[in-house]
Amino acid sequence: LFIIVAVSAQLLSEAWLNFTEYPTANLSTSWTNNESSFTGPHVLQTLFYDGSAVRSLVLSSPQPILGPYFGAGFFCASPCNVFLFAIYIFHIRSDTKPHMVWSANRARPVREGATIELTIDGNLVLRDADGSLVWSSGSSERSVAGMVITEDCNLVLFDRRNGTVWQSFDHPSDVLLPGQSLLEGTRLVANTAATNWTENQVYMTVLPRGTNGYTGLYGYVGSTPSQLYYAFSAWVSENDTGNGPTKVTFLNSSLSLLVQTRQPSNPRMHNISLPAAKSTQYVRLESDGHLRLYEWSEDLLKCILRSDVTMLRELNDDCEFPTVCGEYGICTAGQCTCPFQDNSSSINYFKPVHLRKANLGCAPLNSISCQEMQHHKLLTLTDVSYFDTHHTIENATNVDSCKQACLKNCSCRAVIFRYHLNDSESECLWVTKVFSLKSIQPETAYFNSSAYLKVQSSPSSAASHPVANKRKVILGISLALVTAIIFIAVVITVCLLRRRKYEDNDEDLQFDQLPGMPTRFPFDKLRECTEGFSKKLGEGGFGSVFAGKLGEERVAVKRLEGARQGKKEFLAEVETIGSIEHINLVRLIGFCTEKFQRLLVYEYMSGGSLDRWIYYRHDNAPLDWLTRCGIILDIAKGLCYLHEECRRKIAHLDIKPQNILLDENFNAKVADFGLSKLIDRDQSKVMTMMRGTPGYMAPEWLTSQITEKVDVYSFGVVVMELISGRKNIDNSLPEESSHLINLFRGKARDNQLSDLIDEHSEDMLSHQEQVIQMMKLAMWCLLNDGGQRPNMSTVIKVLEGGMSIETTILHRFLNTNTVLPLEDNPTMYS
Ligand SMILES: *[C@@H]1O[C@H](CO)[C@@H](O)[C@H](O)[C@H]1NC(C)=O
Ligand SMILES: *[C@@H]1O[C@H](CO)[C@@H](O)[C@H](O)[C@H]1NC(C)=O
Ligand SMILES: *[C@@H]1O[C@H](CO)[C@@H](O)[C@H](O)[C@H]1NC(C)=O
Ligand SMILES: *[C@@H]1O[C@H](CO)[C@@H](O)[C@H](O)[C@H]1NC(C)=O
Repeated sequence: LFIIVAVSAQLLSEAWLNFTEYPTANLSTSWTNNESSFTGPHVLQTLFYDGSAVRSLVLSSPQPILGPYFGAGFFCASPCNVFLFAIYIFHIRSDTKPHMVWSANRARPVREGATIELTIDGNLVLRDADGSLVWSSGSSERSVAGMVITEDCNLVLFDRRNGTVWQSFDHPSDVLLPGQSLLEGTRLVANTAATNWTENQVYMTVLPRGTNGYTGLYGYVGSTPSQLYYAFSAWVSENDTGNGPTKVTFLNSSLSLLVQTRQPSNPRMHNISLPAAKSTQYVRLESDGHLRLYEWSEDLLKCILRSDVTMLRELNDDCEFPTVCGEYGICTAGQCTCPFQDNSSSINYFKPVHLRKANLGCAPLNSISCQEMQHHKLLTLTDVSYFDTHHTIENATNVDSCKQACLKNCSCRAVIFRYHLNDSESECLWVTKVFSLKSIQPETAYFNSSAYLKVQSSPSSAASHPVANKRKVILGISLALVTAIIFIAVVITVCLLRRRKYEDNDEDLQFDQLPGMPTRFPFDKLRECTEGFSKKLGEGGFGSVFAGKLGEERVAVKRLEGARQGKKEFLAEVETIGSIEHINLVRLIGFCTEKFQRLLVYEYMSGGSLDRWIYYRHDNAPLDWLTRCGIILDIAKGLCYLHEECRRKIAHLDIKPQNILLDENFNAKVADFGLSKLIDRDQSKVMTMMRGTPGYMAPEWLTSQITEKVDVYSFGVVVMELISGRKNIDNSLPEESSHLINLFRGKARDNQLSDLIDEHSEDMLSHQEQVIQMMKLAMWCLLNDGGQRPNMSTVIKVLEGGMSIETTILHRFLNTNTVLPLEDNPTMYS
């Protein structure tokens, strides 16, 4: 596999060599969407590691070599069976991925063999492989002379005097580029997901002055009627209203609302200020309703998120977004729940769409039937408000009339009754589709609000068919009988088993009681799938890892050696990993516990563990700077998730290269939570038995006051190992340099940090300045006082360029004890 990776990397790098700019195209040119049409000196196919590809008709780059390229052509996402005619930003480094910023045919992708033609009369036409017309620019007979992709990333059909006949800027899809305006009547419509191009129910549009006197940019969700969740607007008096349209323009460092007034020379401007552009930027409306600003980062060659435009204004709380908890979900300080999910005394009318992903929302158990309105009732949720407040029922001045109005109209799915606390003013809001609801705290809210959700109180079709009903009764009685018999049998069996278990091993039962668990496998099945534990992948602290196959899926089976891995750790690991999912954490697929056997089944990571890539070189080329950066960022994200985003704070406590696994594209994931202790959020420190691996352990292990900051320390050690391509403790080296972190302090003191850069890699040496910046981040993480180390979200901010490191860091790093007595003490490894 390494060979495959190496070879494909090689192929890609050769493809980059012949990358030429080709910004314009002439009339009567046609392009067929197949591989052979996109080779040669002018047009080029570019493939990316994530499986996406672009085949460009026109290309330009504001800063060739360094900067990203702008292209228009066929775009596909992995697995590349359908294509869009799109505009995209990409870098010729294939370890990045293209960012689509416009497309002509989101709703109707085309296949291999589709064609684009710039006809002789100046029309740009997209046809599918079968010749059917999919899209056209509608610019025939308008003296078009050619097509160009400009340095603003605008696709323009121009005439002989270089005038613009048609431009993609006038037809935005979900992105605004610098200089682009959203005009009255045009919309940004979110994609459902990055690779699912169907138009989402979230959109933003610019509206002219309404009857309330406001004009501006509005964000909506849903339809019939749409619900408003965001407004960036300005009030103009009727006398001052100008003739020109309102527009919103994305400029460097602002999103600007321009309202025409009576004096055309004096329009009104309102700005949302944004971080100034260091490189190519764009804003994208995403399916969660956020309007996000992205910027190309030259350091990491990744498109990084800079900030969130919608969060900068009005919506300062995630709970304000319409789909944050899906349909019917209730958002409370960022957490999602279903109506009455936890209140066991009430009948449930809703169930979560996905048991582990609460943010996907809730589904009614019985769908609402307009034929059976007599069974509609309203479920009361007190202290709950709703984002859309624009659809009110007139004359419903008290709760009862508000509820009655909703029950009378089948299309009403909920009403929200609000009243201000200090006066008698009240409002009855109605919705035809229920998106996320928001809990409010009555003591701090400015108004009181309750929601009444319409539910179908009996299953549809009940009562209406007496014959069916009779059958149901009979069925019900039989079912009850069978259930009772089974229940009794189960009780007896469990009692018997229990008795036996108490005799030998009382632990096994606990595993069955864990909720939301990964699959439990019988031992024989795992023995079979690993071919009798024959292919060893590696050996870790607590046992060996074997390659296996479950159906088509490759897996890694970790067989824990009994003596060292106690039952307690095993349970902790299964419980912990089973409940979390993150792209930078190794996924636990299942486990096995039989007698003394303890096995864990993980997703297979074909790149193996990080230590193989940084300590030993085999025949592999040393990792380049960008790959190392990517790995560091991935580890940071995995840890950040464990520390800050999980329901319970989780400290890993054994971060080291052996516990970082890589996939074939060098994406890194954190593995092995065997030592994790769960730390409750409100209890920042916890006493724990000393655990970990010497050399990676933070000094505070001495005091046994352990927080998640010990991981930050170990992370700092790993960063230094990655940068210098050596083991943290290497006894084959002379004593003064055998300890990397002590050596690091020495080099920092002598101002010779560059000595530590991995000399096997030319690429590392050529990025000296950035590598030294990374070392400063490591210094911060390696501070002896855990409280002074950054948390992982700060580390990510620094890595993504959103924050710089204090200049005092060198001083702080040096003014700590040089000798850390714990690090070389082998007795601590127990
Ligand atoms: C690049 O283009 C040149 C000239 O067109 C050609 O000789 C060479 O083989 C091309 N290289 C690759 C890797 O395609
Ligand atoms: C387009 O036409 C111009 C002028 O006729 C010519 O110089 C140029 O090479 C043509 N471009 C292509 C790609 O054929
Ligand atoms: C690709 O398209 C060109 C132009 O229509 C055609 O000549 C060629 O045969 C096609 N190649 C394949 C492999 O289909
Ligand atoms: C991380 O540290 C920063 C700066 O000290 C702080 O503002 C932020 O709240 C911290 N984040 C968490 C989740 O603790």
